[in-house]
Amino acid sequence: MPARIPWKELFEAASAARARAYAPYSDFQVGAALLTEDGTIFAGGNVENASYGLSICAERNAISRAVLEGHQQVRAVAIVVDTDTPTPPCGMCRQTMAEFAAPGMEVRSRNLEGKELRTTLEKLLPHAFTRAFF
Ligand code: THU
Repeated sequence: MPARIPWKELFEAASAARARAYAPYSDFQVGAALLTEDGTIFAGGNVENASYGLSICAERNAISRAVLEGHQQVRAVAIVVDTDTPTPPCGMCRQTMAEFAAPGMEVRSRNLEGKELRTTLEKLLPHAFTRAFF
């Protein structure tokens, strides 16, 4: 496992994905990029729907792309948003992250001015319900 997390590359990939997000209803475009255990990067943007409840977040789109390419261990997630305070991932995304998180998985959210929230999945979702229990 590579020791260093390439945050610059992750945020570049998240920004590029954010530019392709489809969010005409909320006008809140989100980009996310994740690092797998072997160093591969997968990105995703939020994709909304006229039937609002069908919308999917950037983070879960990135995770789906990774899983469908054969990667199930995520070391880090970078998120890009245009808000004064960088936003943390929603609860549904936290639970999805818990399914595929490598131990100590890091999460950073950055706004367009470069302000960052730096945290871990453990802090975002303590006492997570996972398959480890059954
Ligand atoms: N959204 C994300 O993509 N990621 C988050 O962490 C929070 C919310 C999306 C869902 C919806 O398309 C829009 O942002 C507004 O909630």
